[in-house]
Amino acid sequence: MTNSNNIDLAARDLSVLWHPCTQMKDHEDFPIIPIKSGLGVWLEDFDGKRYLDAISSWWVNIFGHAHPTINQALIEQLNTLEHVIFAGFTHEVGIELAEQLIKVAPNGLSRCFYADNGSAAVEVALKMSFHYWQNQGQKQKTKFITLENSYHGETLGALAVGHVELYKKNLCAVIDGRDNRA
Ligand SMILES: Cc1ncc(COP(=O)(O)O)c(C=O)c1O
Repeated sequence: MTNSNNIDLAARDLSVLWHPCTQMKDHEDFPIIPIKSGLGVWLEDFDGKRYLDAISSWWVNIFGHAHPTINQALIEQLNTLEHVIFAGFTHEVGIELAEQLIKVAPNGLSRCFYADNGSAAVEVALKMSFHYWQNQGQKQKTKFITLENSYHGETLGALAVGHVELYKKNLCAVIDGRDNRA
């Protein structure tokens, strides 16, 4: 028997949420899956049905769900300092991570700049590369080239340098100032 939590949560979700990379109309026929818990590679719903999370919850959970070492580190960090503005302030863990990243980065990459997610990271990279050429006095260098079928996220700049027709069709009119919608 299906646990009522599954149905309740699905209905509550659809009445208040939009999901990323999703045409919400599809969920009229294809039910969204409420998840109760996760452990390792497994997710579990309210019926006890397990799902193998073969995409690491969109490629960001490579060490598995509820990893004890990561969870312990998170708990310790939360109890010490949950957040501090990174403009004008700093903290040891932020410095330590940057030091370790630079050690494994190619020669010449000597600084880190943190962003909150993949799309924001792409926005940062676009802005930095644009700014670099402006600082070099090459002010004509304002264009980005993109790969066919590339995907870089769903913020405005990330979408602009991506090429998935479904996501771009209406955006091109905004970015190019042209109305090339079908
Ligand atoms: C190649 C690539 N770049 C950027 C992103 C965007 O990352 P985020 O979803 O964290 O904004 C993704 C996300 O799937 C991606 O696969």
